[in-house]
Amino acid sequence: MKYRAIVFDLDGVICHTDQYHYQAWKQIADRMNIYFDETINHRLRGVSRMDSLNIILEGYVGEPLSLEEKEKLASEKNEIYKSLLLMMSPKDLSKEVKETLNYLRSLGLKFAIGSSSKNARLILKQIGMEDYFDAISDGNNIEHSKPHPEVFLKAAGFLKEKPSDCLVVEDAKAGIEAACAGGMDSAGIGDAADYNKATYHLHNFKDLISIFQ
Ligand code: BG6
Ligand code: MG
Repeated sequence: MKYRAIVFDLDGVICHTDQYHYQAWKQIADRMNIYFDETINHRLRGVSRMDSLNIILEGYVGEPLSLEEKEKLASEKNEIYKSLLLMMSPKDLSKEVKETLNYLRSLGLKFAIGSSSKNARLILKQIGMEDYFDAISDGNNIEHSKPHPEVFLKAAGFLKEKPSDCLVVEDAKAGIEAACAGGMDSAGIGDAADYNKATYHLHNFKDLISIFQ
């Protein structure tokens, strides 16, 4: 087989949390009279919470905010976001994703999560996958967010595999760039499906299977 392990991004790959990020940031943006729409929300994909806030604040007209004020806004957004995540359930894991994962696992591949999110474990718990992956590398164990490769290199390290033996699956361009920077092959899906830096281009999650045939 070409790879020994797969490192999956979580948001936008295993399940979809964009709407919840959007709704939470929208509440903050509206309160501050900042224009924020779904197009701007796309730019937040794969980007850390603070970097997301800085993108939203590009539309802010007012005195520059202190770091303390920004941290307060990011933490308020997170409280709203976490309360929205409680609406997620195992129904948010599609049959296609579940069946594809189970098939790939039956080939003996190791699995890790490589997510920028500090809420990765909560999301996995909500969708009933908290014990499914061999390792979880997330926003809590990194200093540098994607496109820096740290989150994926840590995931490979947790699995005790060489980065070049791991395939990264990503829906964010920043994530594909992170994989490249870490010397890892990548499969782009969703927003990143047509990104030319991705090694493989997936139209559906189940297309992953063809990489291992
Ligand atoms: C990524 C999302 O998975 O996690 C980003 O794609 C988000 O949109 C980032 O900003 C950080 O998430 P959290 O849960 O730590 O605020
Ligand atoms: Mg993603």
